Formats: sequence, C-alpha cells, structure tokens
Amino acid sequence: MPERAEHAFAPAQKDDDFAASVFDGLSRPLKSLPCRFFYDSIGSALFEEITRQPEYYLTRAEIAILEANAPEMLGGELSGGILIEFGSGSSIKTEILIRLMPRLRAYVPIDISESALLEAKRRLTSRFPRLDVRPILGDFSHPVALPPEFERLPKLGFFPGSTIGNFPPAEAAQMLRMMRLTLSSGGRLLIGVDLKKDARQLVRAYNDAKGFTAAFNLNLLARINRELGGTFDLNAFRHRATYEPLEGRITMHLVSTKEQAVELDGARIQFSEGETIHTESAYKYTIDEFRRVSRSAGWLPQRVWTDPDNLFSVRELV
Ligand code: AVJ
Repeated sequence: MPERAEHAFAPAQKDDDFAASVFDGLSRPLKSLPCRFFYDSIGSALFEEITRQPEYYLTRAEIAILEANAPEMLGGELSGGILIEFGSGSSIKTEILIRLMPRLRAYVPIDISESALLEAKRRLTSRFPRLDVRPILGDFSHPVALPPEFERLPKLGFFPGSTIGNFPPAEAAQMLRMMRLTLSSGGRLLIGVDLKKDARQLVRAYNDAKGFTAAFNLNLLARINRELGGTFDLNAFRHRATYEPLEGRITMHLVSTKEQAVELDGARIQFSEGETIHTESAYKYTIDEFRRVSRSAGWLPQRVWTDPDNLFSVRELV
C-alpha cells in the first residue's frame, strides 16, 4: 500500500483539492485546469497508451537512452542507498536502473495515482522479491517526508519523462531546488528532459492519429463529471495542441465548439464558442537552456546523454 495507508507519514500533498482547483481554474477569465488531475486511473491508462503511439517519440527515445547508458549513469554506486522517483507512474523505465542495483536498500516511488503506485509495487515486488518498495501517494511538487530510517542513506533521484517540462522555467527551478532538499547533500539526480526540435514533429507527438492524446485531454472533463457531478458535454469540446516557438512549449487546450453553459455543484460556468481551457504546457529545452535552469536551482549539471536522433536528453545533476 502507499505510504499514506501504511504509515503515519503525511502524504506529500492532500489529494482532496480537486474540487477547489477545478472551481478556481474555471472561474478565471482565461480558464485553466492543472495538468496533475489528468492522472486518475483512466487518465493514467490513457497516458500509457500515448507512450505506445508512434508519434510520441519521448518515451521510446528516453528508454533507448537509459538502455544504452544505465551502467555508466549508475557507476556501480548506491549500494545500500535509496532510489527516489518523482512522478513514478508505472515505474517501467525505473526497472532499467533497478536491474543494475542489486544492493539497493529501497525504492521510493512518489505519484498522485494510487492505482499506478499499487500496480508498480505489485509488479516490482514480483520481479525483485528482495527489493523494499515504499510508495508515497502525493504530489511531488511539495516537500516529501521520507521514512526517517532512510534519512541518512545515500540517495539517487530519478525524474524521467520530461515531466519537469510541465512547469514554466522559473517553477521548474523551484521544483529542482525542492528535490535537492529531498535528496539532501551528496544526492544526485537523473532527469529526463525533452529537447527542442522541428515544430511539426513536436505537434505530431501531441496529436496522435488514434486520438489517445485527445481522449487523455477530454478525460479531465469526464473526471469532473464523474467525481464532481459536472455536466460537461464531451462532444462539445475538442482537443487542441500547438507549439509556441517563442516560449518553447507545447500547450494543450480544450476548445468549446459552441456557446454553452456547464453546471458544476450549483454553479453555472459559461463558455463562448471557441473559448478554451488551458490544460497543459510542455516546455522544451536545448541542452544549454536546461543547464542554466539547473544551475539557477543550485545544481551542478554534469553528464548529458541523448539518443542518436537528439530527440531527448537524460541529465545528471549533482
Ligand atoms: C508526462 C508530462 C511528460 O508533456 O509529454 C503527453 C504528458 N501530455 N501527451 C508530456 C502528455 C500529452 C507528458 N508528460
């Protein structure tokens, strides 16, 4: 079970802020919803489908980088140490590292999806029976309380997937600073960061032909209907993902296809035709741009690994 159910430790963040965040985001002049709410069990499953789509190069490129370089990345260390993953999801990529760390003291996956944590723990425990898996249910963007017996052990942080790209650069730096505190002095971080590239290729990755990204985006409205009794008509909103080269980011929106009103717990939320809800940003970096972000957060950027096509990067920060 995740940490919350098993121990006295507080979850990294309470998960009951969905209603408040939705009301807040939909009351603004420019409507928005936080992307962390994509990941209920349906959204987590849709995200796994996205990672298998031919257009979504990120996951394949990152796995190739990890497969090719994991021994070098780990350098044989972390005997008796702790591997902490921020936003662990299915923990599939982590297995590439765990396989090479037979003396790992514990693996601590942090995620907001309880179903993803439980499934990852089940799979990892069956594949690595001696591994101590200690999930923490929560939002990694808040300080995380580790079990006290882990406090003095060497720590390696793992933050794959370019999840850091969801935050604007200044917030990304904040996040990196916070992870530095969680990992404490001497800690190391391996972080996956998507690279800037041809805009068409970026846009395709967020508009897959089978429509899994659209379904993932729209599931946010379905989730509001399911959990908060909303009346969103899923046929009256459509998925949009574009690249903004000046900002270096993909932005995802849900576009209202007509003038309409949605009921939400007694409130009426008005949409004009073409009005959008911003649901996600995914910032892209050059090698150097992200080095600068890392430095501004007090980290020292070390090695960078990329795939042969230079689509994606995995970086070492110390
Ligand atoms: C998991 C946040 C890295 O931004 O590429 C995939 C999420 N959104 N397709 C990304 C996502 C739409 C993904 N991250």
